[in-house]
Amino acid sequence: MDTSELNLLPPEIAEASRAFEAQLAACDSLDALMRLKGAFTGREHSHAARLMEALKAAPKEQKKALGALANQLKNAWEEAIRGRLEALEAERKRQAALAARVDPDLPPPMPLQGALHPLQRLQDRIVDIFSALGFHVEEGPEIETEAHNFDGLNIPGDHPARGSSDTFYLEQHPELLLRTHTSPVQVRVLRRLAPELESRGGIRFVAPGRVYRKDDIDPTHSPMFHQVEGMLVGKGIGMHHLKGTLEYAMRALFGPATRIRLRPSYFPFVEPGAELDVSCPLCGGSGCRVCKGSGWVELLGAGLIHPNVLAYAGIDPAVWSGFAFGLGVERTAMMVSQTPDLRLFFENDQRFIRLMGGLD
Ligand code: PHE
Repeated sequence: MDTSELNLLPPEIAEASRAFEAQLAACDSLDALMRLKGAFTGREHSHAARLMEALKAAPKEQKKALGALANQLKNAWEEAIRGRLEALEAERKRQAALAARVDPDLPPPMPLQGALHPLQRLQDRIVDIFSALGFHVEEGPEIETEAHNFDGLNIPGDHPARGSSDTFYLEQHPELLLRTHTSPVQVRVLRRLAPELESRGGIRFVAPGRVYRKDDIDPTHSPMFHQVEGMLVGKGIGMHHLKGTLEYAMRALFGPATRIRLRPSYFPFVEPGAELDVSCPLCGGSGCRVCKGSGWVELLGAGLIHPNVLAYAGIDPAVWSGFAFGLGVERTAMMVSQTPDLRLFFENDQRFIRLMGGLD
């Protein structure tokens, strides 16, 4: 189209027509293209519509030339817009295909990597410490007999722990219960190994596992928790052996500066019985929130095996003696990690579990 023809056009349409190509090229989205289409070829208020009005108003002698020019322009605009639309559509399809493409060189999406639960790891660590001292690992059933859980441990028939308010009994089998501590493993192992005691020269074992008590769930109680039982039988075993062994183990667990102390306590299956405190692993003994200012935290029950326990298992208490201890895994974990609420260990919120990555 030559410039002389453009001179026939109203100046603002001539101006728009000259700018059309550049504006079209700048339309990089469907939206922009639709706006351009409206402005040039729309039914109302478009350059094409104004051109028609100009044509109506034009003097007779110009009508033919202007009419031909208007048609030509309108067709050219429409065709160019259609072409641009097709190009945009093709580009959109190309991008979608690209996005959907599988790249065989990329690593596949990996499943979340599993790990041992923090309680399990702590329990393993405790077991490892005693393994290094020659203690082997024993296990016992979580459903126990009254005989193993109580009788064999010198716990009398009227002891409150034997009541159904403290202990889960099996409804169909009232002589069976969920063990309330790992101590029944003592009875099982002593009985099993009694005949070999002389040839073995003694017994040393640890027994980790779940125990159950009728406690309501709160920040420091759960009807299920974990203990590690430990026992050593030999000749001439006394409190000094117990104390030395536990001091070594607590230092391995909490660090070399750890101190221990034994306080008299009562458990029917040991005599003397004791509770073991360790110097607070947090403040080192100077007093803090965790140890409630005392510098010590209570950790486990222990003592020398009661002669009745040895006798029940068929072992002569005049010849053999030994020590036993029982430690709560959750209690220890809460202390080490300063976790004030036991329930966090059972809810298994991954954020907590990850945080506990630093437990050992
Ligand atoms: N069984 C005792 C408890 O659950 C702990 C213990 C074990 C005490 C061995 C003395 C000896 O509290």
